[in-house]
Amino acid sequence: MSAQGGEERVVVLDFGAQYNQLIARRVRECGVYSQILPYTTTAARLREMAPRGIILSGGPASVYDPGAPRCDHAIFDSVIPVLGICYGMQLMAMMLGGEVSPAERREYGKTTVHVVGHSALFHGLEGHLTCWMSHGDVVRTPPRAFDVVATSESMLTAAMADDARRLYGVQFHPEVVHTPWGMQIFRNFLFGICGCEGRWTMASFVGQAVEAIRAQTGGGRVICALSGGVDSAVAAVLVQRAVGDRLTCIFVDHGMLRQGEAEQVVSTFGEHFQMNLVHVQAAGRFLERLRGVTDPEEKRRIIGEEFIAVFEDEAAKIGEVEFLAQGTIYPDVIESGSETAARIKSHHNVGGLPQTMKLKLVEPLRTLFKDEVRALGEELGLPEEIVWRQPYPGPGLAVRILGEVTRERLETLRQADAIVLEEIRRAGLIRSIWQSFAVLAPLRSVGVMGDARTYGHLIVLRAVESEDAMTAHWVRLPYEVLERISSRISNEVAGVNRVVYDITSKPPATIEWE
Ligand code: XMP
Repeated sequence: MSAQGGEERVVVLDFGAQYNQLIARRVRECGVYSQILPYTTTAARLREMAPRGIILSGGPASVYDPGAPRCDHAIFDSVIPVLGICYGMQLMAMMLGGEVSPAERREYGKTTVHVVGHSALFHGLEGHLTCWMSHGDVVRTPPRAFDVVATSESMLTAAMADDARRLYGVQFHPEVVHTPWGMQIFRNFLFGICGCEGRWTMASFVGQAVEAIRAQTGGGRVICALSGGVDSAVAAVLVQRAVGDRLTCIFVDHGMLRQGEAEQVVSTFGEHFQMNLVHVQAAGRFLERLRGVTDPEEKRRIIGEEFIAVFEDEAAKIGEVEFLAQGTIYPDVIESGSETAARIKSHHNVGGLPQTMKLKLVEPLRTLFKDEVRALGEELGLPEEIVWRQPYPGPGLAVRILGEVTRERLETLRQADAIVLEEIRRAGLIRSIWQSFAVLAPLRSVGVMGDARTYGHLIVLRAVESEDAMTAHWVRLPYEVLERISSRISNEVAGVNRVVYDITSKPPATIEWE
């Protein structure tokens, strides 16, 4: 994605670290547009782009590994300020004549660094600072003209600086939250050293993204699968800004949506944003295939398959479609990149459409984190209920009904779930809780109502807090909220006579029950 004419930007050269997007994100938080480019980008190309600064990221290699990634040497003579982080600093040290070697002791986790002297990089910071390190090599001797500007217990060069040439390196990770003053390092680099002004905002992102989508799609037709969730919603609105009527959104109602969801999608996208919206009512098809199926993975597989079949049918009806827009966000990119991780459950979402569709992907949110997508959604004027909607699994209520999915069970769960969300919203907790929902366990227990015996279903209430859904803790909901939810569900939802609260974290449980 290119910056708009003349806008200041910073380039992050990618050496393969896990934290690269986090670096780009911290730069954006400072109000400077940042762009991640491969480490092979030449100095000539960089000079053409004229970034205000260059950041060399960390990476898994050792600078002495055969074939270890190196940047173009001329970058250090390009008069553009450079900040090397971890591997980036070691590479800079080695390429400019310093000495790098394996550390006697690998250092991972919290460490204290001691600031030495007065470098522009540590402006406003002094003394002993806690930071986060993760490295196997160390810079023994910085290159000539560099000063050591921070040390640590085990390392002479925790940071180095050549203020005259504006070249800097830090061994720690200023981008992670465990380096609480890391933002000051970015601010010093961006404003004090690179001379940035920091006027980039989400509104500028919209302009840049629209330009990039137009350039990618030319005059071609685009389709987008809308799920009603925030990611696909934001992607669709952004793509519509870029291509207008050439976008058609397909919303597959598989019959396992939450209460009011289909109506909301139709009114927001079809009416308010006046999109070409195909609303496919496919509940019959899905429920037919799910009849008698109780295995969680089997349910997911069937729903995923059927979704693709419905989507392909609809795409074929539109005809001459070249592009598929998807709301893939950065955490999806990292998770799907992992080939070694064990499969706990096969996630189905609209990102799982098959490559055999031969459509080119348009993924304007690939570089953003969830909270940035929400900020973008607000910028684009999406309603609050969609922007702040809690994450929701692609297979919908089907994985919140243990055992067979039937129309009756769906209806029971839908009512209970609506009460949970209503009460959580009323208590002002909707934004702070990651997910809160009801699960239907087809167990029956004995109760009493109006002097009569009941033998009803069990509803499980689940509410978790999480940063990224990889781990989660159950929420200490106020007793009054628990009480209201429990009494409303058992009074208002026919066939339910007992409500329990799930107090298990992830791990060992998962967020969803299936
Ligand atoms: P678990 O249950 O694995 O869920 O702890 C982690 C997060 O992923 C959501 N989830 C899904 N999202 N398709 C999706 O798009 C799926 O099949 C799916 N299964 C779980 C879940 O709601 C939680 O946010």
